[in-house]
Amino acid sequence: MARLVVNVDHVATVRQARGIDEPDPVLAAGLAELAGAEGIICHLREDRRHINDRDLRLLRDTVKTKLNMEMAAVDEMVEIAINTGPDLVTLVPEKREELTTEGGLDVKAKEEHYKSSAERLKGAGIEVSFFVDPDPLQIEASHRCGADIIEIHTGHYSDARSESEATEQFGRIVTAAESAAEFDLKISVGHGLNYVNVKRFRTLLPRAEEYSIGHSIVARAVLVGFERAVREMIELVKGF
Ligand code: PXP
Repeated sequence: MARLVVNVDHVATVRQARGIDEPDPVLAAGLAELAGAEGIICHLREDRRHINDRDLRLLRDTVKTKLNMEMAAVDEMVEIAINTGPDLVTLVPEKREELTTEGGLDVKAKEEHYKSSAERLKGAGIEVSFFVDPDPLQIEASHRCGADIIEIHTGHYSDARSESEATEQFGRIVTAAESAAEFDLKISVGHGLNYVNVKRFRTLLPRAEEYSIGHSIVARAVLVGFERAVREMIELVKGF
């Protein structure tokens, strides 16, 4: 049965908007686990725009399921990962100016680089996942670099503006998953998945073992929790 792993980055985004200490992504991770999430993901970016080093440390100490650290394949991050010891690292491309991860790794263009990052991480006992576009050539290159897992980038599918475009993009994901299965790679999917577009995977992509989802869960939590939060504040104000 497929597993949900929850990305808590955007709990930290709300915290960073005020530069104070709440909401805490570490508490959110605990709640996600209590609700049944089978893993927690956080992306430590070079600019620390949401998750910071303290969050990563505390998440490592408190996550009881599996901690997946998303990061760029650069020396600074590889060293932090080796010192922190997440269960899994997902290598992603990273640009300072992007709002979110914009595409998969171009593994083919920098095979030696990704191979050496993967070797260092695996040498420290950390499983390695490569985040790639649904492109069989990138998947084959990831396999050559020693990836244990392929996370197929679902962003183009999620961004589709019409049913036919969604169907076409979903077809690319299915083909990519077949290619990953040929290399015996474990398959995850993620980016832009929400409460509507995730439904297609259930019947059409049973191979996907893990769903990595963040923004839509945080967005829904704000709305489904809003009424209660307001009521609780009214009770306080009325008590004055
Ligand atoms: N997988 C990867 C590799 C990502 O970079 C992200 C975004 O941080 C996600 C999954 C989760 O995407 P979303 O926040 O859109 O659910």
